[in-house]
Amino acid sequence: MKLGVNIDHIATVRQARGGREPDPVQAALLCESSGADSIVAHLREDRRHIQDDDVQRLRERLGVRFNLEMSIAPEVMRVAQKIRPDQATLVPEKRRELTTEGGLAVARHEKKIGLAVKRLRKKGIVVSLFIEPDQRNIHAARRIGAEFVEFHTGGYALAATKGLRDRKLEELREGVFYARSLRLGVNAGHGLNYLNVRPIAQIKEIEELNIGHAIISRAVLVGISQAVREMKALITNPLSP
Ligand code: PXP
Repeated sequence: MKLGVNIDHIATVRQARGGREPDPVQAALLCESSGADSIVAHLREDRRHIQDDDVQRLRERLGVRFNLEMSIAPEVMRVAQKIRPDQATLVPEKRRELTTEGGLAVARHEKKIGLAVKRLRKKGIVVSLFIEPDQRNIHAARRIGAEFVEFHTGGYALAATKGLRDRKLEELREGVFYARSLRLGVNAGHGLNYLNVRPIAQIKEIEELNIGHAIISRAVLVGISQAVREMKALITNPLSP
């Protein structure tokens, strides 16, 4: 199973100071050299983390697939059609949400989303739709010509009880089975972490998992000792070369 690493929150840290560090593109290249199969970045309408320039530089510098997460807002569609990422994952977007809260209602907005899919595919971009694993939306995704669906694993990840979690896992399994029967490629993501990923990783028909927050959070913790040691050495021996 492949791993797509979402680097949005490297940019979140940079935006906290409005400078250039840490650079999400540099982080993406490190993810790539560490085995990531693709890099995911979400260009939100409010540009709260990833910026247009990041998207341009990712397009130029990545060796692995670049998966641009995006809404179908006309202005973001224009950026995608110009930059031409390898893949576009269409997500619903609300300005006040902390992160993507639910799947796309493809069946309800079939015409509008279908038009966006058509435009992106015309530019040679592979299109994936971020949806809940229900048959209605899976079928609608197939009808409007998406090549992939990405199942929202947030319900599974956040389930408060074991019973609910097992039920959500079963829904995901059934969704994967149904989507594959319609010959859709299947990805999954949202809320996956080092503790909950294994049952999902055992669903063999899923092609790729897209994971962001847990990896960036872990990177901070596993990297902080070295960062402190380096700074301590500098201020202890400021004259050393
Ligand atoms: N997939 C999609 C479509 C998302 O919107 C997100 C969050 O940006 C992710 C995967 C990654 O979620 P997380 O950061 O919780 O791993």
